[in-house]
Amino acid sequence: MSATNCRAIAASILTALRNGNGSLTSHLEKYRDLPDYSLLQEISYGSCRWFFQLEQLLQPLLSKPFKAKDRNLESLLIIGLYQLKHLSTPGYAVINETVSAAQFLGKSWGKSLVNAVLRNYLRNQAELERRLEESSLVATSAHPQWIVDALFDQWPDQARQILSNNNSRPPMTLRVNLQHTTRDKVLERLSAAGIAAQAGPLCATSIYLADPCPVKDLPGFSDGQISVQDEASQLVAPLMQLNPGLTVLDACAAPGGKTCHILESERSLTSVTAIDADPRRLLRLTENLQRLGLQANTHCADAKVTEKWWNSESFDRILLDAPCSASGVIRRHPDIKLLRSPANVEALQAEQQQFLLALWPTLKSNGLLLYTTCSIFRAENELIIEAFLQSVPDAKYESIVADWGVECRYGRQLLTGAIDGPDGFFFCLLRKTLPELSP
Ligand SMILES: C[S@@+](CC[C@H](N)C(=O)[O-])C[C@H]1O[C@@H](n2cnc3c(N)ncnc32)[C@H](O)[C@@H]1O
Repeated sequence: MSATNCRAIAASILTALRNGNGSLTSHLEKYRDLPDYSLLQEISYGSCRWFFQLEQLLQPLLSKPFKAKDRNLESLLIIGLYQLKHLSTPGYAVINETVSAAQFLGKSWGKSLVNAVLRNYLRNQAELERRLEESSLVATSAHPQWIVDALFDQWPDQARQILSNNNSRPPMTLRVNLQHTTRDKVLERLSAAGIAAQAGPLCATSIYLADPCPVKDLPGFSDGQISVQDEASQLVAPLMQLNPGLTVLDACAAPGGKTCHILESERSLTSVTAIDADPRRLLRLTENLQRLGLQANTHCADAKVTEKWWNSESFDRILLDAPCSASGVIRRHPDIKLLRSPANVEALQAEQQQFLLALWPTLKSNGLLLYTTCSIFRAENELIIEAFLQSVPDAKYESIVADWGVECRYGRQLLTGAIDGPDGFFFCLLRKTLPELSP
């Protein structure tokens, strides 16, 4: 594939996302084998990350708005601006390649427009950038208005930092399998392989790599000594208070990062049941279990429809890592800025409530349920718990005592970290109270 084609593909992907179709990961997956894949990935991620800023930057360069049918040409211009503003590729090369890409989009007539707009940007860059700096937070932070509003409303003191962290490139973090090795030994092996890394501050198992690297180059990956997992997610297994002989349900388990960590943390559990509704993601869970030499009972099912998969034997521990807006992992999935909406979050809230209500009967008396999301919106976190506690009398809130995150009325919140910090993540522990003894 030529570099030109790569820009046309990036423009098509951005257009699909702007129209609410697919996800960055699902679109890019189709092009993994292309020689220009890393450029495609860079441009696609970058143009999503900065979309709301680039869209603003483009406005004064256009004499009239694009028609809906020419959205892909507008996306191509946004991609052109991304390259000129954020990449070190010489301006003339970016303009040449982006102009030619108009043809691959079937819009040869747009070549002169693309050429004129991008050259105009380069000529007036300083003034356009200065005006941008003075415009709205949507443009300066590169986030949609509703996310800006939600963050300032819910996290007024941290909102600016979160917005900035959301635009940083996420770290690659490893989880050490302490059953097989120690963190110091892994750090030594990484150093010997020329891979710069340091121990994470929040977990005994976490290691931050200075730069992302393919897993095949990581010593110890193929033999199960390490896995890739954000540090926030590595806090989950220790919070589950695992002991020998317990039965564990992981209700939304795929691709299985937390299932595997649970099994690595306590080798004498009686059983781990891992459920996910998505067969492709469940397959990845099975592959992860295999690589690490671990075993779980897996079911492809809607976890909320318990009669389809539950044999009536209650669990000592339940992990509900609920589907959510993923607002805590925007730096990893910048397409979230384009794909999510307030209506979307409302629908997720309703589902999160349903998960809790459906799974609660499968928990033993005195058992623990850990509710987690990779969201930083209170509506998906403490408000869900508050509503649940109001409607379920035998559920008791247990606070998490820790030296990380923000203690909320219900639960503990990690806010999205910078390049050397964890994802935004929410944790809340609920215990099922013992039935009262009759006199
Ligand atoms: C936050 S992700 C889980 C990540 C996983 N716990 C891990 O650590 O690798 C949420 C998962 O819920 C699954 N899911 C969505 N709806 C579901 C349902 N009704 N029943 C079971 N799983 C569901 C999705 O397929 C997705 O894999």
